[in-house]
Amino acid sequence: MCRLCCACALLFGSLVLSRAEAQSTPPAIRFDAGTKVFRIDAADITYVLGVNENGQVQTLYWGKRLSPGDHFAAARNLPSPSSFDLPITVTPQEYVGWGGGLYVEPDLKITFPDGNRDLALKYVSHTISYRSLAIVMKDISREVYVTLSYEVDAETGILRRSATIENRTAAPFTIEQVAAGTWNLPRGTDYRLRYLTGRWAGEWNVKEQPVQPGKTILESRRGTTGAQNNPWFAIDQSGRSDQDEGSVWFGALGWSGSWQIAVEQDQLQQVRVTGGPNAFDFGYLLKQGERYQTPAFYGGYSSHGIGEASRLMHRFEVDSVLPNHPAPKLRPVLYNSWEATEFNVDEAGQTKLAEKAASIGVERFVMDDGWFGQRKNDHAGLGDWYVNPEKFPHGLKSLIDKVHSLHMEFGLWVEPEMVNPDSDLYRKHPDWVLNFPGRPQTEGRNQLVLNLARPDVRAYVFGFLDKLLTENDIAFLKWDYNRNWSEPGWPAMAPDAEKNVYVDFTRNFYGILAELRQKHPAVEIESCSGGGSRVDLGVMQYVDEVWPSDNTDAFDRLRIQNGFTYAYSPGVMMAWVTDSPTWVNQRNLSLEYRFLSAMQGSLGIGANLNKWGPDDFEKAKEMIAEYKTIRETIQRGALYRLVAPDGGSQQSVTESVSRDGKQAVTFAFLHSSTELYPFPRIFPRGLDENASYSVRVLAGKLAAETPQTASGAYWMHAGVDLELRGDFQATLFTLTHN
Ligand code: GLA
Repeated sequence: MCRLCCACALLFGSLVLSRAEAQSTPPAIRFDAGTKVFRIDAADITYVLGVNENGQVQTLYWGKRLSPGDHFAAARNLPSPSSFDLPITVTPQEYVGWGGGLYVEPDLKITFPDGNRDLALKYVSHTISYRSLAIVMKDISREVYVTLSYEVDAETGILRRSATIENRTAAPFTIEQVAAGTWNLPRGTDYRLRYLTGRWAGEWNVKEQPVQPGKTILESRRGTTGAQNNPWFAIDQSGRSDQDEGSVWFGALGWSGSWQIAVEQDQLQQVRVTGGPNAFDFGYLLKQGERYQTPAFYGGYSSHGIGEASRLMHRFEVDSVLPNHPAPKLRPVLYNSWEATEFNVDEAGQTKLAEKAASIGVERFVMDDGWFGQRKNDHAGLGDWYVNPEKFPHGLKSLIDKVHSLHMEFGLWVEPEMVNPDSDLYRKHPDWVLNFPGRPQTEGRNQLVLNLARPDVRAYVFGFLDKLLTENDIAFLKWDYNRNWSEPGWPAMAPDAEKNVYVDFTRNFYGILAELRQKHPAVEIESCSGGGSRVDLGVMQYVDEVWPSDNTDAFDRLRIQNGFTYAYSPGVMMAWVTDSPTWVNQRNLSLEYRFLSAMQGSLGIGANLNKWGPDDFEKAKEMIAEYKTIRETIQRGALYRLVAPDGGSQQSVTESVSRDGKQAVTFAFLHSSTELYPFPRIFPRGLDENASYSVRVLAGKLAAETPQTASGAYWMHAGVDLELRGDFQATLFTLTHN
C-alpha cells in the first residue's frame, strides 16, 4: 500500500462513508503501482480495475462506495474450467479484442489487409487527471493502439466510457465490430434485466426478464436510435430491489446511429454488458494515421433501487449532458400547430391560433409541417426549404412579427435529412439519397433518406438551416426524422469504405447541430422522430428537449411518460394537451385530466384552439399559470414513482421534489373505480421529516380530514387520502416547506 493510502486508511479507518458524506467528497482516481490496481471513487460508487499478469485490463469491482482503506489484490486471470473455456473468455475484462480463444462478445474486432484477424490488446500506460483516467493498450505485435477513457461524474458517480482506436500500421484496416467498453457485474445468477421497447405511438414500454446463460441483444439496425429498443438498460438482483431498495447497475449509450447493447451471462455466470455501434453490416475503414473514437457508454450504480437509478440519470442529464449544462433553461410552455392544422398552415390560420395561444399564457408558438416547398401533404416538398409563397405571401416575417407582438417566441418544424422524390431537390440530386445502384429505393411516408455522410449533403443541410436562422428571428427548431434507413449504400465511396456511412452520417448529424448551436447560440432544438425514435444521450448533447411519442392520448401518456423517465429526465420530455376525443383511441378525457397528464413533463398545447369555448380558455389559463409555479420542481426535481402505471394498475401517482427540498408536487390519476374501493393511501417521499409543510390542492380533492400543515414525517408516514372516484379522474397537490 502506498504512503498516501496508509494515510487515508488511518484517517478514515474502516468506515464506509454515508451517502451524504460520499456525495460531498470530491471524486478520486488512484493507481497502486504495486498491485497495478486503479480505483475510482465518486458520489456513492467505487469502481476498481486492474492490469492482470497477461497485461489485460480486468474489472475488479463496481458497486457501492467502499471505505478508502479497503484494499484490492492484483487482478489475476481466472483459470480455465476446461480446455473448452480458456482464461481469455472467462476473465471479466474491461476491453478485449477478438483473438485467442475469445467466445464472449468482443469489444473490438479488426480485419487486416493481409487477412489476419487476430487482436490481443495489452496494457501500455495510463494517465490520471482530476476525474478522468485514460488507459492505453496495444496489440502484441501490430501498431494498433486503443485508449480506454473513463470520466466520472462527481455528483452521481456515473461513469462515461469510450475507446479510441488508432491505426499506426502502414495500411488501412477494417473495424468490423467495436464497443465503447464492457461493464462487468459481480458474479451472480439471479439478475434481472429491465429495458425499453416500443413502436410508433407506443414507445417506452418497460420490460423485465431474467438474465440467463446466453445473450440478449438490445439494438437498432435502423440507422438511427429507433423505438423498438432504446439504448438504456438496468440490471438488478431480482427479489432484492424495487423502486427504493436494492442494488441496480444501469447504463445508456450516447449514439443516434445503429447501436447494440449485448447483455450476456457467460459459462461461469459472469454477467457482461457490452455496448457500441451495431455490429450488423458494420465496417469502418480506418486509414493509416487515423483514429476512431466510439460513442460514449455511460454506467451508474444505485443502492436505492430503480427509483434512485432514474433520479441519478435525470440529474446527470441536466447537470452534465444537455446543452448549457449545468444550468439548461427551463422549458417554456409551447403551442404546436400540428394536430390543429396538419399541413394546412397559412399566415391567417397560424395568426389566429397564435392570438388564442397567447391569451392562455403560452410562451413559444411553433408552426409545424407544411410551410415550405410544395408541401400540401406528405407526398411532396421535403428537401425544398423555401417558404411556400401561396401560404405565406409575405414570407415568414409577418407571422413571426405577429407572434413576437403577442410576447411569444417563434419556432419552426424542419425535417432536414429527408427528401420526397417529388421535390426540386431530388430532381436535381437523385444521387444524394442512401441507395444501392440499380436496386429499388424503398420509400417510407413517401420519402427517402438523404445521405448525410456525403460532404455535399452535409453542406446543403447546414446551409439551408443556417440561412433560415440568419434571415428569420427563430428561437426554436423542431427537428424531425420520419423514417428509418433502407438500402444503406454510399456508391460514391470505394466498396471497402461504403460502410463508413454508419459512422459518418451520425457524426455529420451531430456536427451540423453543434455548428448551428455555435453560430446561433440562442436557438433551441427539439429532437423528434415521428415521436420518440431518436432519444438518446448522444443527441441530448445537442438538443434542449425531445418528443417522446406522437401518441398524445393523456391516459396512454401516463404509461409512456412513466417508461420514458426510467432513462430520461422529465425536464426534456415534451407533453402536449390535445383534443378530446383523442385521435389515438377516440377516448374522451376532461381538459383538466389532459392538463395534469401533460404537466408531468414539459408542458405544451397541441389542441385546435379554434374549437375551444370560453370555459376551455379559462381552464387552460388557470392550469398554465399553475404549471409555471411548479415547473422548476417538475423539470429539475427528484422524481418518485409512488404508484407506477404498470401491470394493469388502475392508478398512477408521481411526486417531484424540488432540488432545494422546499416544494413537493404530486400528481395522482385514477383509471376507473370499481366495487366501492377507495383510492389507496399515498405516501410522499423525499421530504425533511422534521420540517413543516403546508398542503395546497391545485386540482381534484383530498380527504376532508387532511391537515393543512404537518411535518414531513407525517406526510411521508401517515400519508394522504385522495377523493378520487369515477373514470379518468386526477388530482394535483403541492406540499410547501413553511
Ligand atoms: C411527425 C411528428 C409530428 C409532426 C409530423 C409532421 O410525425 O412526430 O409531431 O411534426 O411529423 O409531419
